[in-house]
Amino acid sequence: MPHVPHPARLTPRRPPARPGTARARLLASLLAACAAAGLRATEPVIANPLARTALALDGAWRTIVDPYDNGYLDYRLEPYDARENPTGGYFLDRPPGSPSDLVEYNFDTAPELAVPGDWNSQSERLLYYEGTVWYRRTFDRPASPPGHRQFLHFGAANYEAEVYLNGRKLGRHIGGFTPFQFEVTGRLRDRGNSLVVRVNNQRRPEGVPTVNTDWWNYGGLTRDVLLLDVPRAFIRDYVVQLKPGDGGRACGYVQLDGAAPATRVTIEIAELGVSAESQADAAGRACFDFALPGAALWSPEDPRRYDVRVSAAGDRVGERIGFRTIATRGSDILLNGRPVFLRGISLHEENPLRGARAVSEGEARLLLGWAKELGCNFVRLAHYPHNEHVARVADELGLLLWEEIPVYWTIHWGDPATLDNARGQLESLILRDHNRASVVIWSVGNETPVSAERTAFMGRLIARARELDPTRLVSAAMEVRADPANPDRKIVEDPLAALTDVVSFNEYVGWYVGLPDDCARVTWVVDTPKPVIISEFGGDALQGLHADARTRFSEEFQADLYRKTLPMLGRIPQLRGMSPWILCDFRSPRRPLAGIQDGWNRKGLIGSNGKRKEAFFVLQAFYRAKEAEAAAAARAR
Ligand code: GCU
Repeated sequence: MPHVPHPARLTPRRPPARPGTARARLLASLLAACAAAGLRATEPVIANPLARTALALDGAWRTIVDPYDNGYLDYRLEPYDARENPTGGYFLDRPPGSPSDLVEYNFDTAPELAVPGDWNSQSERLLYYEGTVWYRRTFDRPASPPGHRQFLHFGAANYEAEVYLNGRKLGRHIGGFTPFQFEVTGRLRDRGNSLVVRVNNQRRPEGVPTVNTDWWNYGGLTRDVLLLDVPRAFIRDYVVQLKPGDGGRACGYVQLDGAAPATRVTIEIAELGVSAESQADAAGRACFDFALPGAALWSPEDPRRYDVRVSAAGDRVGERIGFRTIATRGSDILLNGRPVFLRGISLHEENPLRGARAVSEGEARLLLGWAKELGCNFVRLAHYPHNEHVARVADELGLLLWEEIPVYWTIHWGDPATLDNARGQLESLILRDHNRASVVIWSVGNETPVSAERTAFMGRLIARARELDPTRLVSAAMEVRADPANPDRKIVEDPLAALTDVVSFNEYVGWYVGLPDDCARVTWVVDTPKPVIISEFGGDALQGLHADARTRFSEEFQADLYRKTLPMLGRIPQLRGMSPWILCDFRSPRRPLAGIQDGWNRKGLIGSNGKRKEAFFVLQAFYRAKEAEAAAAARAR
């Protein structure tokens, strides 16, 4: 029998809200309002956490797997921390050795999992696990100058995280792929701080993503955990980008926290002899607009970056930033004012060699290195924000990026909490990566069925992206339909196309629709003057399975499909890029075919064993030719 509170404390309770009832909806929007009002992590996260003074809390964490969420909900499914201690004191987190209500829950003897990392790949018994896992890490307070402030930073936790420090609830975060932080100034002990995180990756219909996805629902503390130490007044956020339409000037802002109005803020770029000054306003924001004499523009061919240093109020932070412009003109995509063809590939944030979430800079380098080997200048990071290392490595290697939020397939378009959730993820992504030269396209979703509610929902996201960042392009993977009178006539007339800068869609002619030979007959009606990107195409092949080109799942079939798809797409006059599906095989719970898929989507050009498939070389040759063509055109200009 679970812990039973003293009878006097038993108050008559109303039955839990039945899903779909007005009360359930009220509760959900209350949660959203709570989330919006304060229990959600602090305002925009402190930018560039990896460059701040910090104690890394990565490593082995004690964990308790809690399928019935017994550590969080009492037997009436009411959260303990909603009742036990209004301030959220948590019975699970009594100082080591003190009696606890739930003696079965003892972190000190619990098994460990690595952080950052998903739990699914770390233990066979957790591969398919969806539910709650409790994480606990103890640490001593590092030395810190008087008056400094401390923030706990989480790179991401999939999907929902409740965070407790020394028995007190700090807050909650929803969304599995974006960073969040809590200020803990004044809450740290000198020794033996206990940080407890309840991570739950259960899929929910109203979630973002919702219940059905074609990727593995990796749960856990999947990215770095840091204890940041910053001065009382510090630089919370900053953005420095080339001014759209003016390649010789930079513009941006620096957002201070805790600084006096009129605080002086400086941006220095020593290599360019730049030292720009501005003053913070009453809200701590200082705006900038300054010349960038002699700056070499960033491009995949020459990924030039500069050391940019921001200083204010005794705080200093810096990083390497590349300067480039991205725009469209008619059906051209212009990089630094010049037409560019996006030789791309799609990518999940997974290391196939480990069958696990990719978490490190090294893994970002591995995966993006493979994309470079393929001849790419562009990568679509599907279908959710990848970790922060990826865009930084793409800046360095010279790869243009499409970044996306997991508004995927059938989202609850009419639910304001779902919109708030999606918008929150978009904002976090943009505020995290807005200094990345590599990032050129924000995508607000993938393969979402056309409806007025859906288009309104995504329209709001597009407007928010433009509001937060007018320097980049916006798109989404849109819908295609076949002409009922002639199935070989494919029509792209998604209302979203009117709202985006680039019209992108996925197509699977020859795999889900017909055979590769059909490609020769297919025609495309894409009624837009805008640039077109094919955000997905491809077919499955098991690496090492060889047969004739008509045998599905053989390497020969996949290669044949590529050979026939490329000229088919070449017949679309506005075609300015593609990101075939996909660089590597990846885990998916929707792919059970024994002996072939075994829980993997096999559309990779590289197998889960790291070996290249025949189609890899078909696309590589196509991209090499495209690259040579572009180089010749550049020379001729
Ligand atoms: C879809 C979808 C991908 C999926 C792919 C496939 O278009 O966007 O997430 O993995 O097709 O079916 O392999």
